[in-house]
Order: sequence, then structure tokens, then C-alpha cells
Amino acid sequence: MTVASAPGKAILLGEHAVVYGRPAIAVPICDRRAFASATSARRGSGVVLQAVDLGRRYPGDGNCVDDDGRLLQAALRGVLYELGVSGEGLDLEITIRSEIPIARGMGSGAAVSAALMRAVAQHLGAELGAERLSRLVFQTERLLHGTPSGIDNTTVAYEQPIWFVTGQRPEPIRIETGLTLLIGDTSVPARTHEAVDMVRARWQAARGAMEAQFDAIADIVTRARAALATGNLPELGHLMNQNQAILADIGVSSGALNRLIVAAREAGALGAKLSGGGMGGCMIALVRESDRAAVQQALQQAGAAEVITSDVSRGILVMGEHAEQGDEHAR
Ligand code: PMV
Repeated sequence: MTVASAPGKAILLGEHAVVYGRPAIAVPICDRRAFASATSARRGSGVVLQAVDLGRRYPGDGNCVDDDGRLLQAALRGVLYELGVSGEGLDLEITIRSEIPIARGMGSGAAVSAALMRAVAQHLGAELGAERLSRLVFQTERLLHGTPSGIDNTTVAYEQPIWFVTGQRPEPIRIETGLTLLIGDTSVPARTHEAVDMVRARWQAARGAMEAQFDAIADIVTRARAALATGNLPELGHLMNQNQAILADIGVSSGALNRLIVAAREAGALGAKLSGGGMGGCMIALVRESDRAAVQQALQQAGAAEVITSDVSRGILVMGEHAEQGDEHAR
């Protein structure tokens, strides 16, 4: 049996503007992961995909009508095609489970695809490096979600803090000091597709004004990179707040997100903002270690369905356990 995993992710700054060519910074959430195992099955049984959390079993081939089954089948097809392996005559039991909340802007779909692809590749004696895995996961995401920027698959596959610009080689970035993030779940599913479409409609109606907003976000993200490099957390928090103000202005925040963001700031967070597509999903708060408990409690009292704590390690994180030595983009 081979077992593999992939982390969740949070966008620290730059969502939405990243769709329009501006930079964004995302971090892996290593404490929440998706896991997949692949085991040889009885001859003639074919490939079976077992989604443990959902209590569902899907055939490896075919076209599922439900989104979860389609994601798993697409990921499987993608990795088999990449490795030049025919699904015919393959007898495999693939089991998937995930600790990452679904549809909360935490990269759950990308992580599940990445874990499944890694497990299947290893089972077949192949190793997928970060760059190759990222590309494969992106193809699956595109099939199911239209035109994602690619930030989810990149962060999940590289498992490092990433400076991301669409169409450019992702840059793992250095973080000078440990970051403590609290992630508050509004319990409202993130409506990323709807939010991206709404932003596009606004951009089409008022290009100049929206481009100026995206430029302002790009400036914030650039300054945040410098703050991360010098370990200036108060400045980073301030920039997160500025980013949130623009996101609210372009209409992708929500009452539930605002409530959690305000509660976190009032309880001492250095900065707080929505993370991901918005209109639901999760918010993130940057906290000093000494304020963690107070902010966590404030988020719970303000109605967070769950509060996830994540420590993003100092410096460049160790690569995910399956990064390929020969993958030049991973180094
Ligand atoms: O909701 P998520 O985590 O998939 O993030 C969406 C981020 C956007 O910038 C809004 C869209 C994208 O594809 O980058």
C-alpha cells in the first residue's frame, strides 16, 4: 500500500487581483491535509475510488454526475495519462480522506487531487515533482472550475509559501519569522465562481477603476513580501487590513466574514481579512502568540463554526515529502 498526502492552503494577500496578472502570496496549511492510499486489488476488480469522509465509492472510469466523484475521476485520469498508463486491466483500491474543510477557500479540491495523484504515481513506481504535480492538479481544477489562476495547485504541490503571478514560475518565498494564523470558518460555502464572475462584470463595466484597485492590491502584496522578509509582523497585519478594505470595496466580502474580521481585530489580531474567493468561506487573522487564545475565543463567540490554528514556519519550509530531487522548479 502507498500513502501520500497534500496540505490545504490559505491566500495571505492578493486574491482576485491575481486573476488580472497581479501577484499574490499564499501559504500551505500543513496542519490540515488530504490523504490518499493506493492498494492493489483483486484481479478483475478494476479501479475503485473510496471517499471515506463522504461514505461514497466511485468507479475509476466513467463520468460521475456529483462534483466529488468527478474530481476524483478527473484526477485519476490525469495522472494515468501523464504516466502513460492505461486504466484497462488496472486493479486498484484508492482511498481518500481529508481534514480540509470543503468549499471554504482552503484548497480542499486541489489537495485531494494532489494526494490521489501522488499515491497512484508512487504505487506505479513513479514520483511526481512539485512542478509536474502542480501542472496536473491545475488541469483537473480547470476541468471542474473554469479558469483558476493556478495559485491553489501551486501552493498545495510545492508546500511552501509562494509568491505567485499567473504565467510566471512560482517563487517560494522566505519568511523571516514564524507566522501564527487563525483561520475562522463562516460555515457559509465560499462562492468563488460567483465572486470571480461578479468581479469580472465590475471590471468590464469600469475597467479603469478596477485596474486601479488591482494596482493598489499589487502594491500591498509587494510591501507584504518585504514585511515577511524582515519579520515585520505589525506591518504585515496592517497590509492585510488594507487588502481587506479593497476586497470589501469590490464587493467580495460578506456580513459573516466582516463579523469575524472585526472580532479578530478587536481581540488583538495584527491584521485580518477574508482568504480565497470570498462571499463566504474563511477569514484569516495574523496574531501574536500571546494573543492567540483571546482571538480564538473572540472568533468563536462571533460565530465561527471552526477556528483552525496554523503555524507557518520560519524560513523556507521543507519540501513536501514527495518533491522530486530532479525537479528544478522545486529547488
Ligand atoms: O476560493 P479559492 O481558495 O479557490 O481562491 C480563489 C482565489 C481567486 O483569486 C479569487 C481566484 C483564483 O483563481 O485565483
